[in-house]
Amino acid sequence: MVEATIPRRVEHQQTDKGCVPVYTTAVVEQPWDSYSADDHRTWGILYTRQRGLLAGRACEEFLRAQDAMGMGADAIPKFSELNRTLQAATGWTLVGVEGLLPELDFFEHLAHRRFPVTWWIRRPEQIDYIAEPDLFHDLFGHVPLLMDPVFADYMQAYGRGGLKAHAIGPEALQNLTRLYWYTVEFGLVRQGGGLRIYGAGIVSSAGESRYCLESDAPNRIGFDLERIMRTRYRIDTYQKTYFVIDSFEQLMTATAADFTPIYARLADQPAIPAGAVLEGDTVIHRGSGEGWTDGGDV
Ligand code: PHE
Ligand code: FE
Repeated sequence: MVEATIPRRVEHQQTDKGCVPVYTTAVVEQPWDSYSADDHRTWGILYTRQRGLLAGRACEEFLRAQDAMGMGADAIPKFSELNRTLQAATGWTLVGVEGLLPELDFFEHLAHRRFPVTWWIRRPEQIDYIAEPDLFHDLFGHVPLLMDPVFADYMQAYGRGGLKAHAIGPEALQNLTRLYWYTVEFGLVRQGGGLRIYGAGIVSSAGESRYCLESDAPNRIGFDLERIMRTRYRIDTYQKTYFVIDSFEQLMTATAADFTPIYARLADQPAIPAGAVLEGDTVIHRGSGEGWTDGGDV
């Protein structure tokens, strides 16, 4: 359902440069021939179910791009084939990985317009829920919007921003991670007089695809950069709050400034609980809070 970007099990090693993480960062060839019939079936079931749900729910850019890339229910797509379309469209390249990468490697890839995609797919018994990102989340969820020129630039800018935040320190990184969470993973966008989904964590989840738009429980609040950078989030339940952009252009413009002074300013401010509504928020929908559990904000 959600992607746990937080707990990274990274080993550390003492060196003459201090304590440095030991990465398992290898880029791997997608072992396409080794996918089983079950693997392809799992992809097909998830693909068909999500496409059914997402018509009218996901933003048009996402739906159009997914079709343009030739993703379909028949078989797990080949990265090499998707790459031809993607490279021609926006210059992005998919690279296969074993799973979550250390933050710095992830940023480094994005900064070079490479998107790391987990090559393995969940087991049939994990169809409805998997804690860590797999091929379905990464490929179905994240890759289509890399076809959109504006979103493609946003992702690269995020990677560059990540390298910078990493050098500044853990608090800056936390601010930036929240932005990623509430946009790239769980973002909503105004479109055609209503709200549509663009976040990869939502489009790859059957339950949350409906919940984020149709449930009375969560807040839906207009995008506000610094507000988002202060807002904690959930990794074990649906989000308590979704932030809504007007367009990818708005997202790009709102994040264009140097974040360094923003990080400095935010360092003195308290974090905001995931479900809070503040004075000054542009409230599109105030959540009823039904079904919320206390505690557990990351
Ligand atoms: N403008 C940000 C910075 O200076 C970088 C960034 C761009 C981060 C877009 C996220 C998204 O750090
Ligand atoms: Fe993700």
